[in-house]
Amino acid sequence: MSLVPGTVRPRRLRTTPALRRLVSEVRLHPAELILPMFVKEGLNEPVTLGGMPGVMQHTLESLLEAAREAVDAGVGGLMLFGIPEHKDEIGSQADAPDGILNRALGLLAEHLGEDTVVMADLCLDEFTSHGHCGVLDSAGGVDNDATLSRYAAMAVAQARAGAQVLGLSGMMDGQVAVCREALDEAGFSDTVIMGYTAKYASAFYGPFREAVDSELQGDRKTYQQDPANGREAMRELSLDLAEGADVVMVKPGLPYLDVLAEVARESLVPVWTYQVSGEYAMIEFAAAAGAIDRERAIEESLIAFKRAGADAILTYWATEVAQGLNGPKP
Ligand code: PBG
Repeated sequence: MSLVPGTVRPRRLRTTPALRRLVSEVRLHPAELILPMFVKEGLNEPVTLGGMPGVMQHTLESLLEAAREAVDAGVGGLMLFGIPEHKDEIGSQADAPDGILNRALGLLAEHLGEDTVVMADLCLDEFTSHGHCGVLDSAGGVDNDATLSRYAAMAVAQARAGAQVLGLSGMMDGQVAVCREALDEAGFSDTVIMGYTAKYASAFYGPFREAVDSELQGDRKTYQQDPANGREAMRELSLDLAEGADVVMVKPGLPYLDVLAEVARESLVPVWTYQVSGEYAMIEFAAAAGAIDRERAIEESLIAFKRAGADAILTYWATEVAQGLNGPKP
C-alpha cells in the first residue's frame, strides 16, 4: 500500500479537547475506584503516614468520616485493613468478632452498606507477631494448609461482621476454595470472593508496611510470585477461577501492566488491579520535589490501568480523583 504523504494524518483526531474526548478509548469513572483504608485499634486520633503523605491510620470515628466522604464522592467500594493492638503467632484478632477489623467492618456496613460495597482484606500479616501472611511451621516456614483453616475462620468472621467482598491477599494455595466452602457452609453464599490472583513479592509494598505496623523480618518470596514470571500468573488465574473466585486481581499495578493485560484478555470474571503504596509514594514524592505534575501523573497512571483492561482500581487517591471527576470540567 502506498500512502500519499499528508493524507493519512493521525494528528487530525487530536486537534481539539472536545475531539480528543470523543475519541478517547477509555475513561475513568468514580464507581470503578476502590479506596483502601486503615483502621488501628487504640488510637485517640488519626495518624498520618510518613511514607504515604495524605493517607492515615484511622480511629473508628475518623474511618467512618473518611468513608462517608468517599461514598459521597461516588467511589465504588472501600477496602478495609485493620491493625490490632495485640498481635500473636496465629493472628487471633483476625477472626475475633470484636477484633478491630471486624468491628470496623460492622460499623461501615451499618452506616454505609446500602450506598457502597464494604470489602475486607483477608490475610494474617496485620495480625501476626512475626508479620507473615500465614501461620508458621516448626522450621519457621509459612505453613500453607494450617494457614487455610485460619483464613476460613476469618472469612466467616468478616462475612458475619458485614463485609460483602473478601479480598484474599495471602497467596496461599487453595485459599479461594477453602474460603468459598467455609462461607457456603456458614450460610454466606452471597459473599463475594476477590482473589489476589497474581500478587507479586514486590518492593512497592514498602510504605504499606508502615501503614499496618508490620513486624515482618525477611520477605514473602515463598508465597508471593516472583517478579520475573508472567506465565505463572495465568496458572494462578486458572486455579482461582476453578476454585470459584468471583473477581480476580493483579497487584502491584504499573510494574505489571503486561500481566494485567493478559489476565484481562483471558478472565471470565471482573479483573481489578491495585495501585499499591509504593506507586502512590513515587508520584507524591516526585511531585513534592517539583519533578512531575501531580494531578496529571495520577490521572495518567489510572488511565493506563483502564487501557490495560482493568475493570476497577484500588487506589489511595480514590476519593480525590472521584471528587475531581464530579467537579466542573475545564
Ligand atoms: C497483605 C497485603 C499487602 C498489601 C496489601 N495486602 C502487603 C504485602 O503483601 O506485603 C500491600 C498494599 C500496598 O502496598 O499498598 N495483607
